[in-house]
Amino acid sequence: MITTKNLKNPIFCIVAMNEYRIIGDGKNLLWHLPGDLKRLKKITMGSPLIMGRKTWDSIGRPLPGRANIVLTNSISWRADGAIVVNSFKDAIIKADEWIQVNLEINQNIIQKKIFLFGGAEIYKIGLKYCNNIEMTKVKSDIKTGIKFPKLNENDWEKTKIEHHFEINGVPEHSYWRYTRII
Ligand SMILES: NC(=O)c1ccc[n+]([C@@H]2O[C@H](COP(=O)([O-])OP(=O)(O)OC[C@H]3O[C@@H](n4cnc5c(N)ncnc54)[C@H](OP(=O)(O)O)[C@@H]3O)[C@@H](O)[C@H]2O)c1
Repeated sequence: MITTKNLKNPIFCIVAMNEYRIIGDGKNLLWHLPGDLKRLKKITMGSPLIMGRKTWDSIGRPLPGRANIVLTNSISWRADGAIVVNSFKDAIIKADEWIQVNLEINQNIIQKKIFLFGGAEIYKIGLKYCNNIEMTKVKSDIKTGIKFPKLNENDWEKTKIEHHFEINGVPEHSYWRYTRII
């Protein structure tokens, strides 16, 4: 059985959502935050990402410098640059293997961390294994769409890292780090 205590490498969740916990419309993100995309790249570079097949489809290509591990129920689905798995347990096994192999090649650029990359179905499966969430909170009135699971607010210590006001059509947003208390 997988628990946060027996993971070889910790799993960090990374997400951008609005105050209604909306993360996308099922196909795409609902905002364009160039600064957040740069931040996401910096945070995740050198790590395996675990994502659902729909999130893979929404990105449409592998993210370079990272393992792109894609969960699907299909036994025949393939895509260039995707490491395909049919269970969350296999996703973790592949992520650990990727870290081990790549650490031997270049230990300077590999992080001993796995990222839970979304979307909602994958957050729902993997959040219980995460002690940390890198969360971008976006000011947006959209109330319908794909939702991040509801967190028990008392379980998390929340630290605000940075705040950005609306500028040039980029909505107001802030970066938060959530750390599990227990
Ligand atoms: N704002 C953010 O931070 C963020 C991050 C990521 C994604 N998103 C957005 O989220 C939306 C997509 O999220 P979503 O919840 O609809 O889809 P998703 O979680 O990306 O993918 C769902 C798919 O994952 C596969 N899957 C789920 N559970 C599985 C299991 N236990 N075993 C094997 N395969 C499994 C299935 O693929 P098959 O159908 O192939 O079987 C399922 O259809 C998009 O709009 C995207 O832009 C936002």
